[in-house]
Amino acid sequence: MLQLELFPRMELRTLSDFQKLEGVSLSDSDKKILTTSLEFYQTPKTNDVIRHQHALIVDKILGFRMKYIEEMLVAEARGFDPDGSHETWGPSLHDGAQTWVGLELQILQTPYSEIYRILQLLRLRPYQHVVDLGAAYGRMGIVMNGLFIKNTFTGYEFVRARVDEGNRVYQDLNMTKSKLITADLSDPNFELPEADVYFIYDYGQVEHIDRTLNQIRAVSEKRPVKIVVRGKFTRRIIADRHEWMGLTYQGKLEELFSIYVAYKGH
Ligand SMILES: C[S@@+](CC[C@H](N)C(=O)[O-])C[C@H]1O[C@@H](n2cnc3c(N)ncnc32)[C@H](O)[C@@H]1O
Repeated sequence: MLQLELFPRMELRTLSDFQKLEGVSLSDSDKKILTTSLEFYQTPKTNDVIRHQHALIVDKILGFRMKYIEEMLVAEARGFDPDGSHETWGPSLHDGAQTWVGLELQILQTPYSEIYRILQLLRLRPYQHVVDLGAAYGRMGIVMNGLFIKNTFTGYEFVRARVDEGNRVYQDLNMTKSKLITADLSDPNFELPEADVYFIYDYGQVEHIDRTLNQIRAVSEKRPVKIVVRGKFTRRIIADRHEWMGLTYQGKLEELFSIYVAYKGH
């Protein structure tokens, strides 16, 4: 049971419990209590529809303005490419990078409940650093800062408007262990920072992901790394070209992710 200013005996069991919080203006301290509570990230039922609805409500409670920002990006993209779609708008707007402008927000991003499940499976040790490659609005940084208080998080993202919005929410909630950085992962000058965990959810074109995986391989020659991969696309690239990565967890049923480990070219 959560002790919020507006709801002194709050329970988060059903989606309608979350909906009660969605419609009111919560103080930053109430939001902080929520972000540090496990039940905030757990869905009442584990099916995709509920996970997406829950994530949408959590975004609203936290004060994200994702819908507005995405609509602005689509409007800008239509100017270049009036007959386009989410397949073409990102590349036309962002120098060929597949930024998925126009894709439904709940498909673009991993649901909070799945992020929590991933982080739980990783068994992070204190001070380990997690990097999201193609982080969108940085949902993973919210869960990390709230629940994994001895760890740090950096998300790299091409689209500046998403980065600015994510960092705004982090700052409003005084989340100092998480940050988002604007970067083009496909830029040949981008140097992959060392981390203990890398998360990739289909961020771009095959050759870009391939290059990123080779950069992770170089890091794994110096230290052990875990790589969390979400989406069929990147998993296929790994199966075809990156047998150096050892599969340690294969998502079951509706879990769309796998976890790999690598050390000294494992
Ligand atoms: C499918 S989304 C995943 C978002 C987040 N990791 C999650 O799981 O919730 C992939 C993100 O990668 C970003 N992206 C695509 N190409 C990129 C590039 N070259 N450099 C940095 N980010 C990129 C997209 O803009 C998009 O926000």
